[in-house]
Amino acid sequence: MKPLNFLITAGPTREFLDPIRYLSNRSSGKMGYALARAAAKRGRVTLVSGPVSLKPPAGITVVPVTTAAEMAREVLRRYRQSDIVIMAAAVCDFRPRRVAGQKIKKQEFAGRLDLVPTVDILTELGKRKRRQILVGFAAETDHLERNAVEKLRRKKLDLIVANDARAFDSDTNRVVIIGRGTREKLPEMSKARVAVEIVKRAIAARA
Ligand code: CTP
Repeated sequence: MKPLNFLITAGPTREFLDPIRYLSNRSSGKMGYALARAAAKRGRVTLVSGPVSLKPPAGITVVPVTTAAEMAREVLRRYRQSDIVIMAAAVCDFRPRRVAGQKIKKQEFAGRLDLVPTVDILTELGKRKRRQILVGFAAETDHLERNAVEKLRRKKLDLIVANDARAFDSDTNRVVIIGRGTREKLPEMSKARVAVEIVKRAIAARA
């Protein structure tokens, strides 16, 4: 049998205002790196990672990126050869419309940011989906499951992992794994164990 090809994303993205300043979020990358480690036991792994301070797991290909646009490019170009794609990255939803070439001086700053949406990578993957299994995450502060089911349908996913936004930067996570007509609430456990459970279900979804 051919080895499974996993494509996994992790960490935050950074959206620059000028060469020094950026917008980002609290993602640590721990969940995505744990997924890469778990998936490496079941196949070949490419990890497209935003800026994090974690050591890359051994035996996997790491593709470092900074912005949402770079992450989109690196993910899309590897999509066709992938069997299972897990988008654990906390991709910034907005970026400054223009990136200033030089540091914006305090006196010149108007006090407002002009933002435009970034590309929704999962939505693009959903549109181009063939045989790939697509797994997304939904970080919510409220209406966790209702919002997750809505994202599963809208982005044409096979599985969505709903987690409370409070799991950011924690070593543990409490998740609900929602599929097409399935729903499993897991107890709070380490991100390493959550990762094993997600990878197992993603592989089972191929059958
Ligand atoms: N995602 C993505 N590209 C983006 C934003 C999010 O691929 N530009 C992916 C994330 O990696 C995650 C899923 O979409 O797997 C859901 O992300 P989330 O931020 O929870 O949802 P959004 O679609 O951004 O919706 P909202 O902000 O309304 O909650």
